[in-house]
Amino acid sequence: MTQASIIDGKAFAEGLRGKVAELAAKFEPAAGRKAGLAVVLVGEDPASQVYVRSKGKQTVACGMASFEHKLPEDTTQDVLLALVDQLNADPLVDGILVQLPLPKHLDEQAVVDRISPSKDVDGLTPISTGRLALGLPGLVPCTPLGSLMLLKDRLGNLSGLNAVVIGRSILVGKPMAQLLLGENCTVTIAHSRTQDLPEVVRRADIVVAAVGRPEMVKADWIKPGATVIDVGINRLPPAEGSEKGRLVGDVDFADASTVAGAITPVPGGVGPMTIAVLLRNTIVAAHRNAD
Ligand code: GUN
Repeated sequence: MTQASIIDGKAFAEGLRGKVAELAAKFEPAAGRKAGLAVVLVGEDPASQVYVRSKGKQTVACGMASFEHKLPEDTTQDVLLALVDQLNADPLVDGILVQLPLPKHLDEQAVVDRISPSKDVDGLTPISTGRLALGLPGLVPCTPLGSLMLLKDRLGNLSGLNAVVIGRSILVGKPMAQLLLGENCTVTIAHSRTQDLPEVVRRADIVVAAVGRPEMVKADWIKPGATVIDVGINRLPPAEGSEKGRLVGDVDFADASTVAGAITPVPGGVGPMTIAVLLRNTIVAAHRNAD
């Protein structure tokens, strides 16, 4: 039985953060200030709090300024929009990220739409989304761009390969499909209504799983030698006697590894790439806005 090689996203992300730190070190004396990233967190969601803390630490470690804005759960739409306006106008802020999901009473799309496209380091505004669809340069969502970097590092030229993206979210599935199309892949977007999903996935040279269903993708769904990118981060229920359940992806890693050519682990695959690309987008935005 063959065993897939492991795609080490943690190591790749570390290298990328090193490059960002070099660019940030050049930016500071030229601009007379550090490049800056503002992160907005509304409410007390524990997973979001962990992400935001980690973003802040890594931003500072790369030599950039981190501005954290924590707002209470009952924040109104008007107050949140006023904060986005203030950050849009702030010359020390190069990138703005509003942590999603927002509490239910807030209109997420309206908040994201308010972010200045030049500071949209999450790549989620209609301008960024439209530019990606048109194949124009712009800021691209972090998780799909990080996944593409891992794919290109592993495979080189992706032209002509069959890629199947499982999941059609705004944050991952749709932009991932656009990026792969931009690399001349033949792209299929599969989702919850797709008929005979295993059969569709078996055609793929590249599988990107982004559905949020723990260990859904099995070995017999995978074409032998295919490259598998697992975007899912799911916590299983705790086993007897332990406090926390295991973190697993959308792919059954142990099973799929017996068939795939290369595969990202969870944790340590795509996860670390997301923040590294966010920092990369911030320094790119800072240089563009300063020019
Ligand atoms: N929540 C989970 N992932 C993300 C992300 O990439 N961007 C934002 N804004 N919120 C998230």
